[in-house]
Amino acid sequence: MAHISASVYTSHVPAIGAALDLGKTAEPYWQSVFKGYDFSKQWLKDNPPDVVFLVYNDHATAFSLDIIPTFAIGTAPQFQPADEGWGPRPVPMVQGHPELASHIAQSVIQQDFDLTIVNKMDVDHGLTVPLSLMCGQPKAWPCPVIPFAVNVVQYPVPSGRRCFELGRAIRKAINSFDADLNVQIWGTGGMSHQLQGPRAGLINKEFDNAFLDKLINDPEAAANIPHIDYVREAGSEGIELVMWLIARGAMDDVAKTAPGQARAPLNMRHRFYHVPASNTAVGHLILENPSH
Ligand code: DHB
Ligand code: FE
Repeated sequence: MAHISASVYTSHVPAIGAALDLGKTAEPYWQSVFKGYDFSKQWLKDNPPDVVFLVYNDHATAFSLDIIPTFAIGTAPQFQPADEGWGPRPVPMVQGHPELASHIAQSVIQQDFDLTIVNKMDVDHGLTVPLSLMCGQPKAWPCPVIPFAVNVVQYPVPSGRRCFELGRAIRKAINSFDADLNVQIWGTGGMSHQLQGPRAGLINKEFDNAFLDKLINDPEAAANIPHIDYVREAGSEGIELVMWLIARGAMDDVAKTAPGQARAPLNMRHRFYHVPASNTAVGHLILENPSH
C-alpha cells in the first residue's frame, strides 16, 4: 500500500523564484534565505519520494472570480508552469499522478470532503517555488506531483480545523491506494505577510515562531487557531498558513486511534525561519513519520 513518509512545510515567495531564475542566489540578501534549504535539498535526495502531494494556493492564475473552488485536486498527467506576467518561469513541466490523484479524490469525497476535480490547470509560484527551494534547478522535477489547490485568496476561506481534518482524510486515502508508493505531503505558503492596505509589510516573528512550535508539538491547538487570529496577527496573506495544517493533519501521530492506543511522535529533521524575503517571513520545516 502507499504511505506518507514525511511532510515538508515552506513559504512560496515569488521573488525567491525570480532570484533563482535570474542567478541572484549568491547575493547576500538571498544567500541567507537559500542556506536554510541546503539541508533540505540533500535530505530530499537521500529520501526520494515516489510522489509529492503538494498543497498550495493559486493566486488568481488558474482560477478567477468566475469559479472559486475551496479545495481542488489536479488529476491531469501534466501541469504547465503559469505565465504570471513575465512569461512562465523557466522550470520543468510538472508531471502529475492521475491514478493516485483520482483515488484520493474518490476516497476523500466519500469521506465527506467536497473536492473540485481539475483535469487541466496551470500552476503558479505557489507550487513551483516550493519545488525550486527543495530541488534546486533540475532539468526535470525528481518525481510526479499532485497539485492540491486551496482557496485562501477570495473569501470565504476554509478554517484551519477543516484543513487539519481534510489532512486526516487524505492520509486515509493514500494509505488505501494499492501500490507501494512512498508519498510526501507538502504544505506551503505563509508565513506572516500582508501585501496591501495600511498594514502592508506586516511581519510577526512571535506569531510565526509560536505557530511553528504549535504545529510541531500541539497540532490540535494549531488547528483550533481561529481565522481572525491569522489575519490580525499574521496579516491578510498570513492566512495561507492554514494549508500547512492539511499536511500536518496527514501525519501518523494525529491519526485517530483506538482508545488507549498511542502514536509515536514525529521526527523533526529541520526547522528554519528567516525575515525577510520580499514582503514575507520565510518558514520551513521537515517532519518525518516515525516509521518512514
Ligand atoms: C509575496 C508573497 C506571496 O505569498 C505572494 O503570493 C506574492 C508576493 C511577497 O512577499 O512579495
Ligand atoms: Fe502567496
